[in-house]
Amino acid sequence: MPHIVTIDGPSGSGKGTIASLVAEKLGWRTLDSGALYRLVGLAAERAGIAPDDVPALQKLAKNMDAVFRDGHVFLDNIDVTDAIRTEQAGNAASKIATIPEVREALLSWQQGYVREPGLVAEGRDMGTVIFPEARAKIFLTASAGKRAERRYKQLKEKGLDVNMESLVEEISMRDERDARRAVSPLKAAPDALLLDSSNMAVDEVVEKVLGYVKERIPGL
Ligand code: C5P
Repeated sequence: MPHIVTIDGPSGSGKGTIASLVAEKLGWRTLDSGALYRLVGLAAERAGIAPDDVPALQKLAKNMDAVFRDGHVFLDNIDVTDAIRTEQAGNAASKIATIPEVREALLSWQQGYVREPGLVAEGRDMGTVIFPEARAKIFLTASAGKRAERRYKQLKEKGLDVNMESLVEEISMRDERDARRAVSPLKAAPDALLLDSSNMAVDEVVEKVLGYVKERIPGL
């Protein structure tokens, strides 16, 4: 059986960066589950599907032509790597992520990522709902200020136009929606390691996570 490590947490906690670096060190694959929700949000917008048209959204999530290749994401053969990263796409994702039928439709996408020798899966419900059997689970947090700062830097680096004040507001609204929704809310699995990365450098977090993974999966 392939090994599974999950990293969940709110936006800007550093999940994506940490998951990639940990997977690289282990020689494993990563699953960026948020990208799937972002893709459905974007595809729905492009197809003109209303946010409350549940059957259409469910069908779209099941059948969308999405391809992840060499760090790029394609939707209907169009490179949408940057388009899905905007805060607007994050918000659209967070809205459709409250729909149980959409979450259900994305289940097989996510399970399809599991491969030998292992997978590092990051998102909101990786350890609680999608991979409850994971051998090592991490819940990564950081203070609201730090998370907004990191997102700001990330978006700026991508050349996107961002305003710190509205970013703080958007992030806190999105986190609240993610944490309060009825299905698969953002929360730590009872058996997860809680890690606050507010005052930690990326390398330190990676070392800590790797140490924990090796403790939980002896013989790695
Ligand atoms: O992680 P990222 O910011 O890319 O996720 C975008 C949105 O997708 C989140 O705000 C959340 O609403 C949703 N999401 C989710 N479950 C996941 C991953 C992301 O509901 N496992």
